[in-house]
Amino acid sequence: MSSSTENAPLLGGGPTLARPKPTHNSKIRAIIYGVLTLIFVTGLVAVSVFWEELGGVVGGLPNDPEKAAQRILDIAPVIDGHIDLPILVRDLYRNNASAFDLEKEIPGHVDIPRLRKGQVGGFFWSAYVSCPNPDIEGKDYLNSTWRVRDTLEQIDISKLLIARYPDTFELALTSKHVKSAISRGKIASLIGIEGAHQLGNSIAVLRQMYDLGVRYVTLTHVCHNAFADSCGFAPGIIPRWEGLSPLGVSLIGEMNRLGMLIDLSHTSDDTARQALKLSKAPVIWSHSSARAVHDVPRNVPDDILELVGTGPDKTDAVVMVNFAPFFVATPGNATIQSVADHVDHIAKIAGKKHVGIGSDFDGIGDVPVGLEDVSKYPALIAELYTRGWTRFELAGLTGRNLLRILDGAERVAKELQELGTEPSYDYYDKRPDLARKKREL
Ligand SMILES: *[C@@H]1O[C@H](CO)[C@@H](O)[C@H](O)[C@H]1NC(C)=O
Ligand SMILES: *[C@@H]1O[C@H](CO)[C@@H](O)[C@H](O)[C@H]1NC(C)=O
Ligand SMILES: *[C@@H]1O[C@H](CO)[C@@H](O)[C@H](O)[C@H]1NC(C)=O
Repeated sequence: MSSSTENAPLLGGGPTLARPKPTHNSKIRAIIYGVLTLIFVTGLVAVSVFWEELGGVVGGLPNDPEKAAQRILDIAPVIDGHIDLPILVRDLYRNNASAFDLEKEIPGHVDIPRLRKGQVGGFFWSAYVSCPNPDIEGKDYLNSTWRVRDTLEQIDISKLLIARYPDTFELALTSKHVKSAISRGKIASLIGIEGAHQLGNSIAVLRQMYDLGVRYVTLTHVCHNAFADSCGFAPGIIPRWEGLSPLGVSLIGEMNRLGMLIDLSHTSDDTARQALKLSKAPVIWSHSSARAVHDVPRNVPDDILELVGTGPDKTDAVVMVNFAPFFVATPGNATIQSVADHVDHIAKIAGKKHVGIGSDFDGIGDVPVGLEDVSKYPALIAELYTRGWTRFELAGLTGRNLLRILDGAERVAKELQELGTEPSYDYYDKRPDLARKKREL
């Protein structure tokens, strides 16, 4: 029997001086009633919180796929892995945020009215700058380019636009932050860099990009770089490193330590396999589809999809499906159904917990029929609903799978930092400055 005074405050109120001293039996009865009441109230609170979170989705969904999609997106809005609005703003408006109004329709696929219509809860703003001309950069990537400056400019314009529309956007740096922004009706805005050619061959630059708020780095764009091999633009690109370079191996470790997501879109198959094996944290493909459905190098082959998952020798990951017609189907055949075929295929091989949406809107000239801009995501959800996807599976597809990966990467970073893992001091050994100085000593 417990001493009641210790438990009393928990049971509500606690003993008051005026109350007559209870007998032993009535004390026990009071404790039992109290505990039962506590369990009941806790249960009620838990159910109501859960109920609120799942909203109408706990009950049956409407038969009408469009209405069902809307209900699902109400509580699990789209978090897109790759949107190229920043480079469109650079190309069309020279990064002048006052030269256009995102509250109105602008050219391209993305603006605030269409984001709201598409029930978007978040996206990665791609701070993309193109690959340097290989002749100018030189075969070892050593000649100076403006890529780091231009990347800073693209991060800058992303942040300026996010700040300019504070009722709509909120810069988000963690998975928790994304969820809280969404719960307040904001579009959680994350920043990604589309290629390690934007890092100036330097792991120190990676750390500074993290400090600026960047949360993923695609290991390559269409060019090889000092860290890794790309899958190129067309089949047949000759590898430079057979996957990751030695500096690329260090990069993976540092990304894990920082909690920077490793993005495997655009990489060669060898790069992807090696990175999956090496990474201690879950990874993403921010905008790639399935090669078995449409055979282009930018899509993920089945043997790599089979490495994705939570079993032994697997790595947790989410493959966020790209809408670019050229990656989705033969010319003239890209439709919302063909995009859904990619989603279904990735789900079949890797599992429904490992697929997401990475439209590439504003980065693609052409669009599939039925997925013309960011207002059309609900139609894709409706299509998958008619194919038998449940509300929970669809909520995973729209964003929760990605949030799980973000959580995982944050957890691994925390663990590595708590273990006292040193930052990587590795440098590119072909650099004439650091490398030569060391030899001269
Ligand atoms: C930016 O756009 C505004 C509005 O069109 C214009 O008044 C201003 O001159 C532009 N700034 C530059 C530097 O082009
Ligand atoms: C690039 O660097 C190489 C040396 O690695 C040099 O020979 C070449 O002229 C440079 N190209 C340009 C365009 O600067
Ligand atoms: C669509 O695909 C079929 C078969 O792959 C091809 O014959 C056709 O030309 C494509 N384009 C259109 C517009 O249907």
